Amino acid sequence: MDLIEKEKIEIEFWKKSKYENPDSFSLANFLNKSQQFKILNTKIDKRIQHIKSSQDVLELGAGQGWASCFMKRWKLPEASFTVTDISPYAIQSISYWEELFKVKMENTLACKSYALPFADTSFDLVFCYAAAHHFVKMEETLSEVHRILKPSGKCVFFYEPTCSKLFYKLHYKYVNNQREAIPEDVLIPQNLKLIGSALNFEVEHYYDHKSQNTSSLALGFYFKMLNTFPFLQALLPSSSDIIFIKK
Ligand SMILES: C[S@@+](CC[C@H](N)C(=O)[O-])C[C@H]1O[C@@H](n2cnc3c(N)ncnc32)[C@H](O)[C@@H]1O
Repeated sequence: MDLIEKEKIEIEFWKKSKYENPDSFSLANFLNKSQQFKILNTKIDKRIQHIKSSQDVLELGAGQGWASCFMKRWKLPEASFTVTDISPYAIQSISYWEELFKVKMENTLACKSYALPFADTSFDLVFCYAAAHHFVKMEETLSEVHRILKPSGKCVFFYEPTCSKLFYKLHYKYVNNQREAIPEDVLIPQNLKLIGSALNFEVEHYYDHKSQNTSSLALGFYFKMLNTFPFLQALLPSSSDIIFIKK
């Protein structure tokens, strides 16, 4: 699919969505996102050494921005947050989450991950939650992230669907059958390590299927199997956190 067409679908989704449009804050939306709080909380705690002293924080692909509100409320109350998404309709809903978490984001705006309207060396931490696999232009995105990070700054991709090159096509098909409305990608950790290293990042990759939200018995069984036979994680579809540290 053509990138412009894909981006249009992503942008319009947040306007047209029955439960996630900016005109109302639905219970269905709240219940859906609140399932993610526990996952994000666990993941932040696991990667806390990369996060704890961050002062200037940028979220990419934030959707409605609930993750930044959560992070400011519970993890980094003193930090300054800039919250972004490609869709202005998504970002418009952030006031609901600000009210819920009793926080105020310093800056909210719509922008693309690969064309960031920020000065060089502006941020200590860039993060995204379940979003980087939507960015498509990964090399351009990481290059921009490198530019805007301060020296030794970190970029953390939380909760990304990953798999080996071998299973990519199969997993891509599976993921896009699950959620037909919005096209999405699957990340290949090996490729990200190559892109990151070429941009002068140190790259850390962690399979973290244990935090996965297992919505069905079959998925639960699948992730139990990955747990029992960890060598399969590098081959089969899994879930990962990936950290890029600016050298
Ligand atoms: C699966 S959603 C995750 C949203 C949010 N992180 C959450 O957990 O609710 C992926 C998000 O990425 C955004 N997105 C897609 N491509 C993007 C890009 N190139 N730059 C910035 N955001 C993008 C979409 O609009 C969408 O909000």
